Amino acid sequence: MAKSKTTHVKGGATRIAIAIMAAGKGTRLKSKHPKVLHEVGGKPLLAHVITAATKVVPAQDVYAITGHEADRVRSAVAHTGVNFVLQKEQHGTGHALMVARGALERYDQVIVLSGDAPLITSQTISRLGEFHASQRAAMTILTAQLEKPTGYGRIIRKNAKSDEVLAIVEEKAATPAQKKVKEINSGFYAFEVKSLYDHIDELGSDNPHGEFYLTDMAAILRKAKERVVAVAADDPYEILGGNTRAELADIDQRLRMSKCEQLMADGVTIFYPQTCVIDTDVEIGADTVIEPFVQLLGNTRVGSESRIRSYNVIRNVTIGDKVVILPGCVMDDSSVKAGAIVGPYSRLRPGSEIGEGSHVGNFVETKKIKLGKGSKANHLTYLGDAEIGEGVNVGAGTITCNYDGVHKHKTIIEDGVFVGSDTTLVAPVRVGKGAYIGAGSCITDDVPADSLAVARGRQIVKEGWAREKREARSKTQKP
Ligand code: UD1
Ligand code: CA
Repeated sequence: MAKSKTTHVKGGATRIAIAIMAAGKGTRLKSKHPKVLHEVGGKPLLAHVITAATKVVPAQDVYAITGHEADRVRSAVAHTGVNFVLQKEQHGTGHALMVARGALERYDQVIVLSGDAPLITSQTISRLGEFHASQRAAMTILTAQLEKPTGYGRIIRKNAKSDEVLAIVEEKAATPAQKKVKEINSGFYAFEVKSLYDHIDELGSDNPHGEFYLTDMAAILRKAKERVVAVAADDPYEILGGNTRAELADIDQRLRMSKCEQLMADGVTIFYPQTCVIDTDVEIGADTVIEPFVQLLGNTRVGSESRIRSYNVIRNVTIGDKVVILPGCVMDDSSVKAGAIVGPYSRLRPGSEIGEGSHVGNFVETKKIKLGKGSKANHLTYLGDAEIGEGVNVGAGTITCNYDGVHKHKTIIEDGVFVGSDTTLVAPVRVGKGAYIGAGSCITDDVPADSLAVARGRQIVKEGWAREKREARSKTQKP
């Protein structure tokens, strides 16, 4: 799959940092979880913003400003290698940048992003930085034209034709005339670091929330005779923020639809994309077919020419080429090698490695197993903590008894074994190469290679017994 190229901002010796504001609580979500950890496209809001930011500058120049539940937020994105700044108490977006002063003062420019607006692309961030540099501005605001601008800060330009901005007016402070302005503040900015910190202490908190608004820097810098300009985003949707559950759902749908479009452009057939839930990081090879109502989640990878039939929920699974997943399976943290057939209604729990060309059938549950090349477990079976060789036939109703109430034990079934139906294998136990187990056996001891093991009660036949019973009953039941 094509990875988008890193697009570092040009600028010679200009030192550029990206600050991501992510300290807010997210009151409007009515959630006990921090806003920036709410997920869209299968990843936290903040993770999307970090992905875009680290395509523009290296992770060591990215600063995530965290505050509300900072520890949780940090550990969720620590693997990205970005820096963190702690905004212990959250007194507004302006305050967030005040707190980051120590980290940012050694840079020339800072691009400020919002941790709750995940659709921003690296191209737009780069464009913002380049426009800012070309304008020799102190502050550049990324804006968008919205049909419904309600809730956003409005851009008050010097005049319609000018790049220059007089002020940003927040919704609550806007006059009726200002509320009619459709050009809104995206919450993304580029600043000259020196201009920002020379004047940031002039921010006041005389507003309905008693907060320091970063947006007020526009008017402050303007008053100080510094240049403040705006540049409009190409795609107004890039700036959408997930402030409410409805906005999160909207962003999620946009992300998933564009993911499907990208996969289809790469040669994947998706029959009914509106019904599929495919996470942002999923990869799928060409000529694979995805049927309606499929969920492919997390780090799932699907090879080429495979078919994922309807109603599968698949998370963190590596699926090879020419695999068929029949309807109704649930799979987690597993792998399925080329040419295998799984389902319908199979449950692959973590650590299941399904070998090349093997079959796992209906109502089969697996956990932490290796199923060798060409082996089959087609019906009503539980295989846990087992190593199963190549060409093994596991009969219907086979159970590995892997748990003794305290510990888990391993079952080893070597190549070419035939396990008869309704066999229980009491682990730890080993069945040698080419052995044969009679149906209905309870295997408690190792079975040597090439032998037959039968472990069940012998059949008793009493001829005429049923007839005699019937006749005796009909004599006593006289009317
Ligand atoms: C902000 C802008 C508004 C703009 C909108 C775009 C201000 C005052 N208003 O409003 O003009 O149209 O974004 O989406 O900036 N945060 C902190 N620390 C704080 C407060 C907030 O890090 O003390 C973070 C939040 O976690 C969030 C981001 O800053 O990621 C923006 O804050 P939010 O409260 O969502 O601002 P909006 O009301 O959306
Ligand atoms: Ca917001």
